[in-house]
Amino acid sequence: MCGIVGYIGSKNTTEILMDGLKELEYRGYDSTGIALLDNDKIEVYKALGKLKNLEQKISDANVGENHFLGIGHTRWATHGKPTELNAHPHLGEYSYVVHNGIIENYKEIKDKLIQDGHKFISQTDTEVIVHLFENYYNNSNDTKEAFQKTIADLKGAYSILLISKVQPDSIFFFKHGSPLIVAKGKEEKEVLFSSTDAPLIGLADDVVYLEDGMGGIASPAGIEFFSDEITWSTLPQSKQYAQKDGFRFFMEKEIYEQHDVITDSMLGRLQDDQIHFDEFDAKIIEGIDEIKICACGTSYHAALTASYLFERLSKIRCSVEIASEFRYKEPLMSKKTLFVVISQSGETADTLEALKMAKKAGLKSIVVCNVDNSSMTRLGDVTVLTRAGIEKGVASTKAFSTQTVVLWMMALYFAKFKNAISQDKLNSEIFALREVPKALIVCDKMHEKTRRLSKRYLHGHGFFFIGRDVFFPLALEGALKLKEISYLHAEGYPAGEMKHGPIALADPELFTIALMPQNLHYDKIKSNVEELSARDSTICSISPLDFELSDDFIKTNKTDHYMLEFFEMLVALQLLSMEISVRLGNDVDMPRNLAKSVTVE
Ligand code: AGP
Repeated sequence: MCGIVGYIGSKNTTEILMDGLKELEYRGYDSTGIALLDNDKIEVYKALGKLKNLEQKISDANVGENHFLGIGHTRWATHGKPTELNAHPHLGEYSYVVHNGIIENYKEIKDKLIQDGHKFISQTDTEVIVHLFENYYNNSNDTKEAFQKTIADLKGAYSILLISKVQPDSIFFFKHGSPLIVAKGKEEKEVLFSSTDAPLIGLADDVVYLEDGMGGIASPAGIEFFSDEITWSTLPQSKQYAQKDGFRFFMEKEIYEQHDVITDSMLGRLQDDQIHFDEFDAKIIEGIDEIKICACGTSYHAALTASYLFERLSKIRCSVEIASEFRYKEPLMSKKTLFVVISQSGETADTLEALKMAKKAGLKSIVVCNVDNSSMTRLGDVTVLTRAGIEKGVASTKAFSTQTVVLWMMALYFAKFKNAISQDKLNSEIFALREVPKALIVCDKMHEKTRRLSKRYLHGHGFFFIGRDVFFPLALEGALKLKEISYLHAEGYPAGEMKHGPIALADPELFTIALMPQNLHYDKIKSNVEELSARDSTICSISPLDFELSDDFIKTNKTDHYMLEFFEMLVALQLLSMEISVRLGNDVDMPRNLAKSVTVE
């Protein structure tokens, strides 16, 4: 998944592009580049690695301030290793292109263009776009026709910005499968482009979230769209949300703001004695005998958590699928299944494809997502936004907690509709929901404890995170957080399963993080942990109760509901992984090999 930006206007183009790329760097940062067009002179600057390397190149080159049109790109490699040669923008003879997505038929296009005499210098799929455009233009002398024919030939997912010496005042743009926003700048004759809202904040008010198949040509004279059903929207957020607000990392900021954003997730939905979603009527569940949830990564863990709640509270069968498995297993699908996808970005390729399969099979679908106007939200029958605000840390935190709360509320919404829950029980669940913000408050004592613990857990042959019931998906989430940002091996496991093999690994070098809630199967989890302790595994228990056999512990608060223990333990797991990563000197916000949203297979 990459990030693209574009600018036409009278401000310092280089500055606008570079500031925009800074806002997008979390989407991928193998390499970056910009191309500036000044009348018929094109300048391009590219660098391997993070944006600061490109900044250095640009300052060394003393790039002037008088450019008024340019495009920029930050890359997460899909075709071709991360090298400067493969960095975007890609050049033809007189045009440049930046692209987010995958051109699936690039090989056949490339072979034909090579036969027509075009020379390629990169291994990327993207490069075919600019050569295809020039091939058409060389035969027609019509830029619009050449661009439209180029787009017509492409198969796959792409958002494209293309500039050319033959029309030096314009940016050609198109969106299909990957996100792209076009904006009217606050200044006269100013046009901006971006993959997401963040780079536009403060520079524009009116935007178009392009739909698949939308494109056009922008110039100081205005924006010519190829289609006429254009909907202008107002840019929703202010810049401050996307800044660190004094924290060391975006991840830390996002852990600390969970207690705050979770109230947004419940706003208008959690009423005095009932749950209500404006977005859809609970009768969507009429005639439904199963809920199938599909997701990836952390969102998959939220899905697993929700499966316990849908069965326990709504009394509806619930199955959970990993999207990358689901889409190729030739799944049997029934129209009596309600298909739910969960995604922070709304752009994860596997989850998006799974949603398309369900739609094609005629299933009703609900999209639980954090990014409005994303590809998934535009495809699902119903969208329920988690309202976590921009999440920039690659390791997802507030997305998970808001997803889990939304799904908990949804389970209660269906439970009430089906008369599967008494009003008393509903009231006690609602009471617990109201306590979630408190459970998510980061207390200094807990943060300080995780800082101290982090120094003990740097050298071992791995971690087991264990839990039962909803604390099993929480254990999976804790393990993923640690893996993602510390690069240490960790595994989430159902506590009751340890004796079916994994306990063979138990020794003092094996660290077990045991989630031991008081309100759910405490005695069961306690005996599982005793078995591990008896075999000398180093135990760190996270619990409101003292457990004398643990070598370390993180004390949580006593509460009346296991889901409140769930959220407090979540914070402990997030902090512990972050502090271990800090101690190892890793990049907490942009860990190696990862991108914020995986928009390719
Ligand atoms: C979470 O910390 C990871 N960065 C990753 O597993 C992520 O949850 C996964 O790629 C799914 O992304 P999505 O929620 O945007 O679909």
